[in-house]
Amino acid sequence: MTADKGELILKLRGVSKQFGAVTALKDIELDVHAGEVVALVGDNGAGKSTLIKVLAGVHQPTEGTIEWCGKPVSLDSPGTALELGIATVFQDLALCENLDVVSNLFLGHEINPWQLDEVQMEVRAWTLLRELAARIPSVREPIASLSGGQRQTVAIARSLLLDPKIIMLDEPTAALGVAQTAEVLNLIERVRDRGHGVILISHNMEDVRAVADRIVVLRLGQNNGVFTNETSHQELVAAITGASENSVSRRMARKQEEAV
Ligand SMILES: Nc1ncnc2c1ncn2[C@@H]1O[C@H](COP(=O)(O)OP(=O)(O)OP(=O)(O)O)[C@@H](O)[C@H]1O
Ligand SMILES: [Mg+2]
Repeated sequence: MTADKGELILKLRGVSKQFGAVTALKDIELDVHAGEVVALVGDNGAGKSTLIKVLAGVHQPTEGTIEWCGKPVSLDSPGTALELGIATVFQDLALCENLDVVSNLFLGHEINPWQLDEVQMEVRAWTLLRELAARIPSVREPIASLSGGQRQTVAIARSLLLDPKIIMLDEPTAALGVAQTAEVLNLIERVRDRGHGVILISHNMEDVRAVADRIVVLRLGQNNGVFTNETSHQELVAAITGASENSVSRRMARKQEEAV
C-alpha cells in the first residue's frame, strides 16, 4: 500500500480542535510525504497528542480540512483511519506481557481477514523482523522478557503488518537508554526507507535531529515554524518555548505598555 517516495499523502489545512472553552489546536497546517520522517515537537500542552488523536480518528476536528492522497477525508473513527492507512503506536505500546512476539504482532488485527495458522504467522513475523533488521532473540519469547527497545520494535512491526502509508510514533524513545534509542532510531530510518511516511513525536531534540527530514513545531496549539535537521538546537528550543516570537514584537509590546 506504500506510496511513491515523495508523494504527498496527508495534507491538513486550518485544522482546529476545541474542547469546550479550551482551544487545543488552532489553524494547523501539516504535510506528510511518502518516505519522510516528520517530527512533531512542542512543549507540554502544545497540542501534539491532540493532533495525533485527530489523525488517528480518536478526536474529530472542530474546523479545517484533511486531504488523503489529494482527496478530502473524514477520519470519523479509529477504524476509518486504520483502513485508510494511518497507523499509530501510542506511548503505552499496548502489548500483552504474557503473550509471545508472534501473538502480539497479530493481536488486534481483526479488521484484516487473515486466516493464518501459527506456522504462517511465525514465518511472517520472522520475515518482517528480519527485513527491519530487528534484534529480537526469538519470536516465541514473551514480551515480558524483552527490553524496552525490543518492545518498541515489536509495537512498530505490528503496526507495519497492515502496510500503512503513514505511521505515527508517540515518544518512542522516551523510556530508553542510549543503545536502545539508537536501535529504535535505526528502525525508524528503515521504516522511512520502505516508503512509509513517519510522524514522530519526541521531546528529545537529539533524536529528532538525527532522523527527521522536517521538524514541525507546535506552540500553544498553533504552528510555530517548520525546520530541518540542520537547524541548531538553540533555534529549535527558541521556537518551542516562544523565545523566537520575534523580539521586535515583544519590544513593541513593552513600549506600548510603557506608553499607557
Ligand atoms: N480531552 C480533552 N479535554 C479537554 N482538554 C484537553 C483534552 N485533551 C487535551 N486537552 C487540552 O489541550 C491542550 C493540548 O494538549 P495535548 O495533550 O495535545 O498536548 P501535548 O503537546 O501532547 O502535551 P504533552 O507534551 O504534555 O504530552 C492542553 O491544554 C490540554 O489540557
Ligand atoms: Mg502528549
